[in-house]
Amino acid sequence: MAHLPRLLPFFLLLLGVHASVCRGSPTTPLPSTHSTSICPKSGIKCGTVDISYPFYLSNATGETNDYNRFSCGYTDLKISCIWDGKNDTPIIQLGGDNYTVLDIRYDTFTVVLADTDALRGGNCPRVRHGFNFGQDHKWLEYTGSLDNLTFFFGCDPALVDPPLAGGIDKYQIKCTDFNNSPSTGPSFVFTKEELYSLPYYESLSKTWKCQNVTVPIDGRNPLLRSNQATLPSGGYGEVLKKGFELAWNSNKDEQCFWCQRSQGQCAYSQNKTLLGCVCPDGNLRPPNKDCNAPN
Ligand SMILES: *[C@@H]1O[C@H](CO)[C@@H](O)[C@H](O)[C@H]1NC(C)=O
Ligand SMILES: *[C@@H]1O[C@H](CO)[C@@H](O)[C@H](O)[C@H]1NC(C)=O
Ligand SMILES: *[C@@H]1O[C@H](CO)[C@@H](O)[C@H](O)[C@H]1NC(C)=O
Ligand SMILES: *[C@@H]1O[C@H](CO)[C@@H](O)[C@H](O)[C@H]1NC(C)=O
Ligand SMILES: *[C@@H]1O[C@H](CO)[C@@H](O)[C@H](O)[C@H]1NC(C)=O
Repeated sequence: MAHLPRLLPFFLLLLGVHASVCRGSPTTPLPSTHSTSICPKSGIKCGTVDISYPFYLSNATGETNDYNRFSCGYTDLKISCIWDGKNDTPIIQLGGDNYTVLDIRYDTFTVVLADTDALRGGNCPRVRHGFNFGQDHKWLEYTGSLDNLTFFFGCDPALVDPPLAGGIDKYQIKCTDFNNSPSTGPSFVFTKEELYSLPYYESLSKTWKCQNVTVPIDGRNPLLRSNQATLPSGGYGEVLKKGFELAWNSNKDEQCFWCQRSQGQCAYSQNKTLLGCVCPDGNLRPPNKDCNAPN
């Protein structure tokens, strides 16, 4: 942290310059407080979703003097506000895949995400990927509502063994707008419970040459219990579009915890290092000092 004294003045100068540019008036005196565009005090709407700390917008990052990007917010919680032709849509990237942010519940520290492709894919979307987030997303975790659906796409019709597969047709995806081209083989969807109770469970991926994908869903969706039989005819699309829930942990870093306790916002580098604590008065404190500590 030897570089911090050098970093601080530059950081504040940079924020000041940035703020004056954003206000479109270079002659405005530099504010004594920090830039409201990098560390906004109140949320910014993207579509219907309120983006507030510890989330941050991808256009609200600054640069340290060693040319590293930093954010006021947790590195993983970066949201891009994308105009999709109709609406501003908040998108978060996890494990290399895009998820649309449907809701952020700041009181319960939870966020509802839906696979962006699934949302755009009609009533019966062809999902392309599972959820690949893991150890590399240190602030996020599953909640108790997590459940999943497993798909087997484009099985080889010549290999699906009819006697063994008795009754499997009730799991087959039957929607006029379902598109798995170029494959025309049957595709199936199963809940977790269905999947593990099936005699042909092993065959699906091993001998019928289906492509499997498991995706997270919200297990509290009533459709999963009351109307499970409708999943293959379009219900699954509805379930996917409702998304799934993740929680963020705001106590991962002790120093950030104390910063937040003193009404500060934690500034993180892209490599997830805590760089400092941005206080309500606009001052940046080093990571080991919260906003109540003497200067
Ligand atoms: C960043 O994007 C948001 C939403 O698109 C917009 O409201 C805000 O003005 C932008 N901020 C800057 C600094 O460009
Ligand atoms: C995610 O969204 C961004 C912005 O719209 C896009 O450039 C990128 O290609 C998308 N990535 C994937 C894996 O779809
Ligand atoms: C499906 O969800 C359960 C939790 O309900 C989890 O234990 C399991 O690992 C998940 N499966 C996959 C492939 O993600
Ligand atoms: C999905 O396919 C992989 C091989 O591609 C296999 O190892 C795995 O067991 C399959 N999962 C299920 C749920 O069948
Ligand atoms: C992360 O970035 C910070 C500041 O930009 C730097 O001081 C630190 O050494 C980097 N840490 C790692 C693990 O790369």
